[in-house]
Amino acid sequence: MYEHLTVVKHPLIQHKLTLMRDETTPTNHFRQLLREISQLLAYEVTRELPMETQRIKTPMQEMDAPVLAGRKLALVSILRAGNGLLDGVLELIPSARVGFVGLYRDEETLEPVQYYFKVPEALEDRLVIAVDPMLATGNSSAAAIDLLKKAGARNIRFMCLLAAPEGVARMKEAHPDVPIITAALDEKLNEKGYIMPGLGDAGDRMFGTK
Ligand code: URA
Repeated sequence: MYEHLTVVKHPLIQHKLTLMRDETTPTNHFRQLLREISQLLAYEVTRELPMETQRIKTPMQEMDAPVLAGRKLALVSILRAGNGLLDGVLELIPSARVGFVGLYRDEETLEPVQYYFKVPEALEDRLVIAVDPMLATGNSSAAAIDLLKKAGARNIRFMCLLAAPEGVARMKEAHPDVPIITAALDEKLNEKGYIMPGLGDAGDRMFGTK
């Protein structure tokens, strides 16, 4: 569909995603599954991180061993549901810098409204991974990426759990330079902007709100 869209069809991810979609899955299990999937997706998102070698000594001999190169990467959570993906990735990459973009969706217009923005310095030198579980209309994701670019980010990836074709099309139009990594591409949006079949409101399911 789009060369910058990667759907990670790993059996573990797909199995866990089915459990997340199931409406009977309780909040604590939902959060745990999201954390686990975020770590599996992180494997894909970070696949091409630059490497260098470092001289070390094993108990046997010296060697040039691979380590990550360059500035620490930046993880940016698009609040509030982004935090569910952030936690798992941060566990894998504890030295990452962390930023937050606060946007809420106006339920009438479905347009994003900004209420918070705080990101690490020197974004231009970092790989920036923006995380939000649901790429629905794509309006808030595109707006968040706009803000990150204004703050200097040049190398951005977008990681989500579910994407709708409408959201992918919006991102492709607004930010064709930003690869999208997702666990599934669903059918469509409903008239309220929810992903179908989806999993409902990710934030509500994660935090037990309604
Ligand atoms: N946000 C959600 O949490 N769920 C959707 O289906 C769409 C946007």
